[in-house]
Formats: sequence, C-alpha cells, structure tokens
Amino acid sequence: MADILNGLLDQGVNLIDTAAGYSGSEEMIGKTIGGRRDDYILVSKCGRAMEGVEGAEWSEEVITNTLDRALARLQTDHLDVMLLHTCDLETLKAGEAVGALVKARDAGKIRFLGYAGDNEAAAYAAQLDDVAVIETSVSICDQANIENVLAPCRENNVGVLSKRSIANAAWKGAAQQRGMYVNYAENYAQRLEKMAITPEDLGFSGPEDWPEIALRFTLFQPGLSCAIVGTTKPGNVTTNLAAAAKGPLPEDAAGKIRAAFRQAEAATGETWLGLQ
Ligand SMILES: NC(=O)c1ccc[n+]([C@@H]2O[C@H](COP(=O)([O-])OP(=O)(O)OC[C@H]3O[C@@H](n4cnc5c(N)ncnc54)[C@H](OP(=O)(O)O)[C@@H]3O)[C@@H](O)[C@H]2O)c1
Repeated sequence: MADILNGLLDQGVNLIDTAAGYSGSEEMIGKTIGGRRDDYILVSKCGRAMEGVEGAEWSEEVITNTLDRALARLQTDHLDVMLLHTCDLETLKAGEAVGALVKARDAGKIRFLGYAGDNEAAAYAAQLDDVAVIETSVSICDQANIENVLAPCRENNVGVLSKRSIANAAWKGAAQQRGMYVNYAENYAQRLEKMAITPEDLGFSGPEDWPEIALRFTLFQPGLSCAIVGTTKPGNVTTNLAAAAKGPLPEDAAGKIRAAFRQAEAATGETWLGLQ
C-alpha cells in the first residue's frame, strides 16, 4: 500500500480521501505518507458511533473525539477537510454535528468542513453557510446528484468531490468483482444493463474502454472539483491518470450516457436516486 500511495503522489495526485470508519485506513495513510503531508489535500469523515471513541452518533462529543483520533492516526496537526459521514437530513437540521465541525475549524484542526452523502440531504448541506465541501456519488450509473446536488453547490460556491466515480466498475460481471464490491456494485451493474449502451455506441473500441469512459464522464461534470477513485492496483492508477488527461468525453458520447440513464430510469418507473 505504501507503494500505491507514494506512486499516486509521485504521479501528481494531490487529494487523499479516507474516513474514521474505513478500518485501518487513517493509520495506514499516516504511516506511509504522513511524512510528505504537504503533498496532498487530506479529507476524512466522522460522526458515526465508533468502537473506542466516546460519544453518541452525530454528537459534538463523538465528532471531536473522532477528529482528535484522526489527527493522531494521520500524523498531522490539521485536516484540510472533515466531512460528516452520511447523516440524515434531520441530523443536519438539528445543527449539533455541523456546529461541532465549525468549532474544530475555528480551533484550527480543520481548514474546511462539509458533508458526504447524496440527494436531499446533500442539497440541504450545500446551502449551509459553513459547508465548503460536498462529497457525493456521481457516475455513468448515478446521475441524480448532477442536477440535485451539483447545481446548488455551484450556486453556493461549494467544492464537490465525487465518490463511486467510476460506478464501482459496474461493467465487470459480479464474478470479477472482489470483496465489498461484489454487493456494492450490484445495483450499478443492474442500472448499466438497463441503460443498454456499449462503448461502441459511444465511439469507443470495446469493453476495455469502460474505465476511461466512466472517469471522463464524471470528472468533467460542471462544478465537480475532483473525482475520487478507489483502486488496489498500481496499473489502474496509471490507466486512470492517462484517461483523466484526455479531458471531457466528446459531447455526443456524454449526451448519450445522460439520455440512456434517463430513458432506462423512466422505463423502470423508479426514481434512480444517488446511492450511498
Ligand atoms: N459515503 C461515503 O462517504 C463514500 C461512499 C463510497 C465511496 N466513498 C469514497 O469514494 C472512493 C471511491 O469510491 P469507490 O471505491 O466505492 O468506487 P469507484 O472508485 O467507482 O470504484 C472502485 C472500483 O473500481 C475498480 N477500478 C479502479 N480503476 C479501474 C480501472 N482502471 N479499470 C478497472 N477497474 C478499476 C477498483 O478495482 P481495483 O482495485 O481492481 O482497481 C474498484 O473495484 C472510496 O474509496 C471512498 O474514499 C465515500
């Protein structure tokens, strides 16, 4: 993992996203790249009840304690961004959780605060004065947040990070998915099947082009600041960086992906909301 993280930074990646709830992640980042802290924007998430952390979920106590633990684990004296890790709308409206991060920001422990999540709650968070960053699902298979969340973020000058940016590689069959992605990618795989588009329809050569298509679609959505992609493979890092360097998809291809999503959604009679 040290090789992957150092390789990312060496190749120009400058934002690392983690969470208190990703087992072992904060510690591993601190141990492997804590010594080159100035090379990256560091984002973590908090608010959930945690084993070994005092406080009820979304309380000021748990948020403060989780942040202090994150600083120690990440071997730093500040985070660039701390996000509330997908609380519901009522919790956001109650104010204690956001207020805890405001205090942390005013104390210099974080530079900016925000919210990781989707749909109505993310749109609500985007118009709060103190919220500077939203992390939300945007991909070829997850387009609701393009209107519902990116638009209010643009209006309120809020930075946006996409999560699940390449739709968990939904084009891979379930048998090719590994670990948590087996179940996680299933919903997107079903959506993509219903969308019934192929790389050839979009002017590309074949299935090997899906990662490039998926990343270029997401990364260049208006208002998006950064696309976060998960990978365990150095080769995929190189492929993804090369894809990003190609710029936006041709307008025609991006339009076909938008249309395929809308048509498939309408045909099912469902509302395809942003998925957590
Ligand atoms: N609620 C939240 O706050 C929340 C929720 C979800 C995600 N996130 C954040 O967003 C990040 C990204 O989301 P994600 O990891 O769920 O989804 P993702 O980036 O859309 O997909 C990751 C999957 O794509 C594969 N992949 C990456 N590059 C590839 C390539 N070039 N060719 C083929 N497969 C490729 C990875 O497999 P390999 O390992 O084989 O490359 C992995 O299975 C997470 O790491 C996390 O930081 C936050």
